[in-house]
Amino acid sequence: MTIAPVSGAEVALRDVTVGYGGHRVFEHLTLNIPGGVFTGIIGGNGSGKSTLLKTIAGLLSPSQGDVTVGGDSPTAARAYLGYMPQVSNVDWRFPLTVRELVAMGRYQFSWKRRIGRLIRSQEDRIAVDRAMAMMDVQDLHDRQINELSGGQRKRALIARALARQPRILLLDEPSAALDAVSDDQLFDVLCELTDLGTSVIMTTHDLSTVIEHYAEVICVNATGGGIVAQGPPTEVLTEEVLRRTFGRELAIFSRGDMHLDESEPREHHTLRLADELQLHMDEHEHRAGHVHGASRERD
Ligand SMILES: Nc1ncnc2c1ncn2[C@@H]1O[C@H](COP(=O)(O)OP(=O)(O)O)[C@@H](O)[C@H]1O
Ligand SMILES: [Mg+2]
Repeated sequence: MTIAPVSGAEVALRDVTVGYGGHRVFEHLTLNIPGGVFTGIIGGNGSGKSTLLKTIAGLLSPSQGDVTVGGDSPTAARAYLGYMPQVSNVDWRFPLTVRELVAMGRYQFSWKRRIGRLIRSQEDRIAVDRAMAMMDVQDLHDRQINELSGGQRKRALIARALARQPRILLLDEPSAALDAVSDDQLFDVLCELTDLGTSVIMTTHDLSTVIEHYAEVICVNATGGGIVAQGPPTEVLTEEVLRRTFGRELAIFSRGDMHLDESEPREHHTLRLADELQLHMDEHEHRAGHVHGASRERD
């Protein structure tokens, strides 16, 4: 693949090879994502959408190649990066209230995090309250996260990413399984953010929202060469591209079933909350003192 110029790109991957242990998901991947717009990452089940997002967030380190986020390394970019993991990748047994979960979005990586509980500023409280209001979870603020429905979990995780007031927002499957009202609300919020210059990069199964809302779409198929196509949705989403992106899943899409990920075997995807959300955790504080229950609960 030729190396595209990276000037002006908010996120740039150059010749990246990344995966899990010996399992390489992407090899020699080169990709530029523009700033200040909505970018949708679409692809079939297991096509590498989450892997791509985790690589941008710095949660997965490439074995080869460079990743630049906002001109910085992914680690340096964490100061202005918000990340919402896929709901099914989170261990919801972790004992936290909704407010605590959302507040985690404020304290990641700051020097305050160790003593954050003592010196939470007024500004932090306002940002957390505002993020909860934006995603309509303020009434759930004192609920344990394991008591939430699937849609509520998504909204709480999105609120946590928003609490950071990030310049770059990465959302992994935020919209499927929200009800229609919440979906509209989500897109309203995200439109406001892109109007203010935020770059929103999100994975999705919902092709109709891609065409309606996104400036840019990236079609991913890790086993089919990595990036199948990229550009404005109305130009890019031809039948040929969709076929190469989704393969045999396309028939299911055209029937309107957008919840393929939910049928995926989840065990090896399910990480401890502290692993998946390392962006937001003070591990030392949370490792001590919290014991997971034996039972598993899934939404
Ligand atoms: N934690 C993991 N350990 C090992 N393999 C994984 C892990 N997460 C995902 N994979 C594998 O990486 C590939 C891409 O997965 P993923 O990025 O989750 O796809 P998508 O988000 O598009 O469904 C798949 O083959 C999947 O099985
Ligand atoms: Mg995924």
